This record gives sequence, structure tokens and C-alpha cells, in this order.
Amino acid sequence: MKGVVLAGGLGARLRPLTKVTNKHLLPVYDRPMVYYPLETLARAGIREVMLVTGGNSAGDFLRLLGNGADVGLENIYYAYQEGERGIADALRLCEHFAAGDRIVVILGDNVIEDDIAPYVRRFQEQPSGARILLKEVEDPQRFGVPVIIGDRIVEIEEKPARPQSSYAVVGAYMFDARVFSYIAGLAPSQRGEFEIVDVHNRYIRDGDLYYDVLKGAWSDAGTFESLFRAGELARKTRLS
Ligand code: G1P
Repeated sequence: MKGVVLAGGLGARLRPLTKVTNKHLLPVYDRPMVYYPLETLARAGIREVMLVTGGNSAGDFLRLLGNGADVGLENIYYAYQEGERGIADALRLCEHFAAGDRIVVILGDNVIEDDIAPYVRRFQEQPSGARILLKEVEDPQRFGVPVIIGDRIVEIEEKPARPQSSYAVVGAYMFDARVFSYIAGLAPSQRGEFEIVDVHNRYIRDGDLYYDVLKGAWSDAGTFESLFRAGELARKTRLS
């Protein structure tokens, strides 16, 4: 299994912190933000990762991470996303790297306490499809939110004004090779981006989207409040 970390975007919600540098290089407690998703992948046994960046300071990632030894990886490959066209658009750049294998994708601003190895194992055991991770949160309207009937996800809504569950879709996704043809078939959303939620909903239509609920804490780090919380979570985890 190969890994992907998506670390592009302008980090507009964190200005002025992101005026000259990339969001994913900002400190989260004792290390740069992008270390967390990379270490999460390494801990799950993944050795090869493609990092997609863009926007400010793209070259700094190479200097910071090199070939990935400091974060427990054998190799990091790099891709550059032109423009700000969304998560699914960034993932498109990884088709060659994936080369028909299944992939685990983590958003560069996600700090996950769980060891995701058991979820990755379950994904490997499922015959095909995608697998996502959920976490119960107090502010689901900030995230992708599943509509759950019984124990089945029937739809995922992106940042709904009236969330239909109290779960957030965590920024860690597992996909089979179909993901790239699904992305190729997407149209941009109203905000001009290729939305990962449209990919998830495509898998749902095929009856091939599975999920697990995280046991430990989780935070994104894309706003001042969540960046602060991510730092607290990292500190707690490191000191425990
Ligand atoms: C993105 C996704 C959203 C997901 C979130 C997790 O949102 O679009 O579905 O719940 O990451 O961090 P963003 O943080 O880019 O607004």
C-alpha cells in the first residue's frame, strides 16, 4: 500500500500566519504540521509516500523532509499542484505514483491520535472500494458529514448548514484504483473546486464505501482554533 499526503492550498483561514509560508509548515507543538500525517502513515507500515504541495514555499518541503527518513519513511515523492482546485484535483496528480495499487490519503493538516493500522488492514481485506474514518465532533458543519441510516452511510454532505449526524469525515481516505477514473469524471463544484466528497458519494452509489469510527482524538489545523487544539492534542499524546 502506498500513501499520499495532500499539503497544498493557500491556508486562507490562517492569514497572516500563511501569508509567506505554507500552512503545513507551521508548528504544531514540537514539529511542523506536515510531520503528523507522514508519521501516521509510517506508523501504519506504509513506506512510500507522495506529497502534493502548491502555493507558498513549495520548495521548503524538500529541504524539510528530504527522502523521509526523519518521519520513518523510505521514500517521499513530490508533486506540485497548480492553482487551488481542491482535494480531488490534488489527488489526480498521484495516478502514476499509485500505479494501480490501493492508496491511503491523509490531508496535511490532520492530527490523528489513533494508530490507523487496524483500519488499513480492514481496507486491505475488503474486496474493493473505499474506506473512510469518522469522528464525533461538536461542530460537524465545518466538515464533510455523513448521513447515516441504520449503520449505512447513504450520503456525505460537505459543510452542511444543518448536519444530519454529529460525525465528521476525518481527512484520511483509503481508495482502490477506481478513484482516478472517478476523479476524471468529476465536474467542479460551485466554488470551482474538485470535491473529495463527490468521490465518496460516487463510491456510495456503487455500494462500495466502508467506514470506521476513530477511538482516539483527532483535529484538523486549518483555523486558529483547530490549530491551537491540534497543538494541545500533539502535546498530550507526546507527553503521555
Ligand atoms: C476537508 C474536507 C472535509 C473533511 C475535512 C477534514 O475540509 O473537504 O470533508 O471533513 O477536510 O479535515 P477543509 O479542511 O479542506 O475545509
